[in-house]
Amino acid sequence: MRTIHSLKELRTILRGYRRQGKTIGLVPTMGNLHEGHISLVRKAVESADIVVTSIFVNPMQFGANEDLATYPRTLAEDQEQLEAAGNTLVFAPSAEEIYPEGLAQQTRVVVPEVSDGHCGASRPGHFEGVATVVTMLFNMVQPDLAVFGEKDYQQLAVIRKMVRDLMVPVEILGAPTVREEDGLAKSSRNGYLNEQERAIAPAVYRTLTTTAEKLANGHTDFRALEKEAEQALSEAGLRPDYFNIVNSLTLKPATDGDRDLTLLVAAFLGTTRLIDNLSVSR
Ligand code: PAF
Repeated sequence: MRTIHSLKELRTILRGYRRQGKTIGLVPTMGNLHEGHISLVRKAVESADIVVTSIFVNPMQFGANEDLATYPRTLAEDQEQLEAAGNTLVFAPSAEEIYPEGLAQQTRVVVPEVSDGHCGASRPGHFEGVATVVTMLFNMVQPDLAVFGEKDYQQLAVIRKMVRDLMVPVEILGAPTVREEDGLAKSSRNGYLNEQERAIAPAVYRTLTTTAEKLANGHTDFRALEKEAEQALSEAGLRPDYFNIVNSLTLKPATDGDRDLTLLVAAFLGTTRLIDNLSVSR
């Protein structure tokens, strides 16, 4: 497995693989890899001949008061895990390589509607940053397919729409959320939790499953269920950002006629913001 930092070198190597008729899978990440990421890499390895995992902490998707500076950078450990998972190339560019003229001068990709609300409302500009860097990674790697985690449900919806709307010739594969034994979704940000916060964190998934059970038992007052869920999170010691029951496709507030619903949640433990989701069909 090779690690490449320059776009020029990446393009040269990938041209060689393409000439040999190899298919290319891309797994975009910000590094600090855990089993969740590795499951994406495994899916890419099953689906393509060559797998490129990008590791880039994308400054464009971080807000001014967010954790860009402290986001964990663990390239050596990431490389070991990727090699063991059968990854072919690591693309780990610098911010200068990706944004040579700086962020202010950068052309951006805006994905309307599905980027609004939920995390989009709490983190203005976040999905613009994600859609822009993913579009650039697609243009740099020109993969046949790319794998994203379903844990970032809204992000996956944004990317699917961006690919559809811009007719990007990349197949998008979603991979299921990987959880700890107590249900907590694996996330690089779990590493920020102290012992006490870590003990509280499983309440996020518990609240999702409790609400899903209520839906399965025929509860249809979605707004009341959202309020109850937010209260349950507060009582467990979290500070809910939102708990929204939405149409799984549009991400708009669920209405009576919707059959496929997704419960989207974001909540703070101290300064750490955790997100999770659960889909249910009625
Ligand atoms: O999900 C992530 O880690 C990031 O948002 C992504 C898709 C790598 C874009 O920077």
